[in-house]
Amino acid sequence: MELGRVQETLLIPLRARAAETRRRRPLTSDPRSVEVAEALDRDLTRVGGRLTLLGPVFRGVVLDDWVREFLEEHPAGTVVEIGAGLNTRYERLDNGTATWVEIDLPDVIALRRELLAEHDRRRMVAGSAAEPEWAAAVAAAPGPYLFVSEAVLIYLTEDGARSAVDVIRDRFPGSVLLMDTVGSAEARRRRAVDVGWSCDDPGELAAWGLRLRDSRTLWDLPPRARARLTPGRRVLSALLDRASRGGGSRLSRFDVDGL
Ligand SMILES: C[S@@+](CC[C@H](N)C(=O)[O-])C[C@H]1O[C@@H](n2cnc3c(N)ncnc32)[C@H](O)[C@@H]1O
Repeated sequence: MELGRVQETLLIPLRARAAETRRRRPLTSDPRSVEVAEALDRDLTRVGGRLTLLGPVFRGVVLDDWVREFLEEHPAGTVVEIGAGLNTRYERLDNGTATWVEIDLPDVIALRRELLAEHDRRRMVAGSAAEPEWAAAVAAAPGPYLFVSEAVLIYLTEDGARSAVDVIRDRFPGSVLLMDTVGSAEARRRRAVDVGWSCDDPGELAAWGLRLRDSRTLWDLPPRARARLTPGRRVLSALLDRASRGGGSRLSRFDVDGL
């Protein structure tokens, strides 16, 4: 199946999770992503260099930790994956009672449906995050809601990202949003891979109706995960953490409060 250029970016985190799972001491284990990567008729060795593959692994560990926390507090709540790609967070974290809604562009959802099973508590929705049509499928699922945008809204224009946040804020006030942002220094460095907007201070997204609760570089792992780092990765991530404090990527947790 042919995917669009932005949609193709899903191959990088997929390869990253599969490659990590095959390591002797993986930071996170995701056997389903290995199966999904193998089921695709693609040469994944062409996507992503060493650092490009490490970022999604660290990012996923931080976001998974926040999702796990939400599910501990709200075991029957709903996790909404904005721009799900071929992410297998459901396989990693589902607790048997939560509902999952996975949104992506139509070609990705068609592919996702071929590879991953949909059921009552796991719904897949084709549409753009920046348009309001997907909201009805989320409203049909039980609250409270946690939205996760992992390497998605950064590819939209700033207006597109804001439209997606507008839908979340208008339809689901009181929800929580987890999102990564790319700082201006990193956006300049990554211009070639279509980063659509940059943000040096996620606190400024208060103007979008998002109240910042937590923000960290993607190299700043929660203590439990940090303990699993190999010595080499511990040094590398400390260096990358320092380097990305001014103008790098950040992961943030927001309360969606309304304007
Ligand atoms: C880098 S991938 C990340 C996929 C997934 N979140 C993960 O971490 O594995 C970016 C994803 O965003 C999706 N995407 C891009 N623009 C979108 C939009 N307007 N609405 C919904 N999804 C979009 C792409 O199709 C792709 O699956």
